Amino acid sequence: MPRVNRTFVFVLLLASSCAFLLFQLYYYRNYVSKEPGLHLLDPAGHVMSSQVQWQNLKKFLALAQFFRLPLFLADSAALALLSQDALRQRDRAMHEPHCSFLCAGRPITSFALPASQWQLSPGFLLAAEQKGFQLLEVRGRDPRLASLDTLSGEEIPLHFLFRLHGYIIHVVLLYERSGGYLWHGALRLKATADPTFAPFRLLDYGRHAGAYDRPELLLTVVDGLDVRVPRNISRFLVQRQEARFLECRYHDARSFLQLYPDDSSAAAVEFRRKAKVLLRLAAQTLGRLDIPFWISSGTCLGWYRQCGVISYSRDVDIGIFISDFRPQITTAFRDAGMSLKHQFGQVEDSLELSFLGEDVKLDIFFFYRDGDVVWNGGTQAKSGRKFKYVFPSFSLCWAELLEVKVRVPCETLDYVMANYGGTWSVPVKSWDWKSSPSNVIENGVWPVAEWAGLIQVY
Ligand SMILES: *[C@@H]1O[C@H](CO)[C@@H](O)[C@H](O)[C@H]1NC(C)=O
Repeated sequence: MPRVNRTFVFVLLLASSCAFLLFQLYYYRNYVSKEPGLHLLDPAGHVMSSQVQWQNLKKFLALAQFFRLPLFLADSAALALLSQDALRQRDRAMHEPHCSFLCAGRPITSFALPASQWQLSPGFLLAAEQKGFQLLEVRGRDPRLASLDTLSGEEIPLHFLFRLHGYIIHVVLLYERSGGYLWHGALRLKATADPTFAPFRLLDYGRHAGAYDRPELLLTVVDGLDVRVPRNISRFLVQRQEARFLECRYHDARSFLQLYPDDSSAAAVEFRRKAKVLLRLAAQTLGRLDIPFWISSGTCLGWYRQCGVISYSRDVDIGIFISDFRPQITTAFRDAGMSLKHQFGQVEDSLELSFLGEDVKLDIFFFYRDGDVVWNGGTQAKSGRKFKYVFPSFSLCWAELLEVKVRVPCETLDYVMANYGGTWSVPVKSWDWKSSPSNVIENGVWPVAEWAGLIQVY
């Protein structure tokens, strides 16, 4: 009896281990070998996925063409590939469906579209959905309607995301602003929107609002598809890097103007008109020379505090980094009909130029970087005394003042606070540039022997 028992147990063990072995084999063949990770070893897998993305793009671009939407490629990765790789750029003429540029190894391809063209194509979204694209439309307030008089902008479409088979096509709408440039809004999801719809952090556009010059476009063939691209791709990519746009703080400006109403005298109105002409002229002249500038001192305060100019300030102040200085500046302003009124300092130290146009002065202060601060100089002509104005370092953003696209320090409040202190929001009419600014420092005296070169008054 015990002998029978032992044989029986042995057979049972043998059978169960065979069954377990078979189960493991079955499990491995059915599950483990189907793990997608194993396919990564297979180069065909990669080609397959970029084929899917290419098919999406082909379908989408055909639809856009049918609806006559002049989309253009605005994707930073795709455009960088196109501009850098001259050899492959020649290949793009070949009508071969390889997604080597448009896919760029990313699950997103971005396009931009002038919004004026968009409004003509209401059927497009429906047609895209019928083709299988899932749609996320992001809307926001229309800043063109916001002003000091009305704050309630109507909502307008800002961004469209089209999703198919896990790939995203991002369409950024570009609106024409009164300063003659193109603007896109920030992408802010409403509470009801699906935050997993797209990998939002990977998007090229939408973290901030942006401002662009209208790019000249070129119709070409990329990856076998007809695509519009900016004619000067590197210029577009540089603009994209520096596109961040700050809207004026209309709400706060309105509160300010309720406390301190704008001067509506004829003289003040006339000053605002002249300041506008001068600012536009400065933007054009420096734009032609490709020299970035920002509005500084009282002009910056006016924009930040009241979305306008301070009418009793009597001049327009701009800043330029000394690294951007070029001697052509003076001739360019002269050619534009402005006369040099004074030149203080030198390129190495405290350079300052002042031009006169129509009895309004344009002061150009050159800024010097020094560690984590930035400073500009001032000179008193009659005494040769030097002054220094120190600011925390800042980056530059676009903004609009008097219907002119200008740059402002992005960290505007820090800049204004450095210059005007904590009471910047209270108007001060008697202002002494040598003692009133919070950040002014006495900086010695120019040697008398050098005055002739360093203090030039015309
Ligand atoms: C493209 O733009 C860059 C930067 O603005 C400029 O330096 C370059 O000359 C432009 N190229 C052409 C071909 O216009």
